[in-house]
Amino acid sequence: MRKFKLPELPYAKDALKSYLSAETLEYHYGKHHKAYVDKLNDMLGADSTAWNPDATLEEVVVKSQGGLFNQAGQAWNHTFYWYGMTPDQQRPESALSDAIDLSFGSFDKFKATFVEKGVGQFGSGWVWLVKDANKNLEIVSTANAENPLRQKRIPLLVCDVWEHAYYIDFRNERKKYLDNFFQCVNWRFVAENFASDRPANITTLMT
Ligand code: FE2
Repeated sequence: MRKFKLPELPYAKDALKSYLSAETLEYHYGKHHKAYVDKLNDMLGADSTAWNPDATLEEVVVKSQGGLFNQAGQAWNHTFYWYGMTPDQQRPESALSDAIDLSFGSFDKFKATFVEKGVGQFGSGWVWLVKDANKNLEIVSTANAENPLRQKRIPLLVCDVWEHAYYIDFRNERKKYLDNFFQCVNWRFVAENFASDRPANITTLMT
């Protein structure tokens, strides 16, 4: 079975500092995310006959269960999270913006719903913008490592609402962390995911 690696960050660790400190990136990316990738490799290596040697991370996320899924899901989700942010201020381009208006009424309503779902996720988890097979957009929250790929939805954007994502910079204020997430969203990345019939190829970033 191939080994997955911690992906390169698409920006410097202090590049998001108006939102997330370099210290948060040091711990969240350098320790938490790295630990998920390391444990994933350990578990895959311990049962090397269970998977095709070329299995993608997306396949492992969709087909695994239990402890292996927890590591695979967290490895995938964090890479997707990092790539969904950028230090460049952006707005959604027109096709995506129109789809957001159609699904949620307005950009402000979309944002409010995203924040509300993220705040309402009890305990650790993630809040996602996803699309279904009919290109309908939806906001869903998932617990722990869960990923919408497993419900045949294509993730467009995610925000990590595990406490480790915001405690250094926002302490217990998850709502403030979610409100400010929108100053760093990489809308070009979201638009690429929206335009594609397949989920983001996170495997290529981690091999
Ligand atoms: Fe995290």
